[in-house]
Amino acid sequence: MKRLFLFFCLIAPLAAMAQQKVLCFAGSTRAHSYNKKLVCEAAKIAVERGAKVTLIDLKDHPMPFYDADLEQREGMPPNAKRFRDMIMTSDAVIISSPQYNDSIPAVLKNALDWASRNERGEESDAAFKGKKIVMLSASPGKKGGAKALIHLRAILKECGGDVLEKQVSVPSADHAFDETGSLKDPILRLQLEQAVDQLN
Ligand SMILES: Cc1cc2nc3c(=O)[nH]c(=O)nc-3n(C[C@H](O)[C@H](O)[C@H](O)COP(=O)(O)O)c2cc1C
Repeated sequence: MKRLFLFFCLIAPLAAMAQQKVLCFAGSTRAHSYNKKLVCEAAKIAVERGAKVTLIDLKDHPMPFYDADLEQREGMPPNAKRFRDMIMTSDAVIISSPQYNDSIPAVLKNALDWASRNERGEESDAAFKGKKIVMLSASPGKKGGAKALIHLRAILKECGGDVLEKQVSVPSADHAFDETGSLKDPILRLQLEQAVDQLN
């Protein structure tokens, strides 16, 4: 009985996460981005749980602004296709978004817009369909970018994603991380673990 308990409490969750490919990225291209730090923390937790994690920087995948004429003329830009393919081949996605004027940054919206198209230049939910998504945010402000996540949730749902309930917003992000990039607040750290553990 005790062995069974241990299996379901410890081993089964690890095994479930271990089978998953998780793509992680921030909606910021800034070198010292707080959201990059936060998504990196989440990625480390997923690795600890046994997931196969790919952590990318949108700065390494520059995409033109979505333009229907460009799409018709040249098809999906190569970096947009690579980004979409990375989502397609993942089981789950963790995104940490900054808040810009109560919403998400253009760089993130643009990447998601491209990912919501297919190579025939049509609307497509194939990339996100049924994909588990964990949302995070960080901002120097008091609410930690929580308003951006209202928009991000709506966008990702529209794209077909299964946006998970628990999300984490890190306020006062300019003071929230130590020199190693780890969250200083143990409560926020626990919330982050609980958010990642939804992928089990
Ligand atoms: C155009 C713009 C709009 C912003 N709007 C907000 C906002 O509505 N709320 C907020 O808390 N911070 C806002 N900020 C501040 C960002 O949260 C801050 O720059 C943050 O560090 C960006 O995330 P990053 O560190 O991951 O790059 C804004 C910043 C910019 C450049």
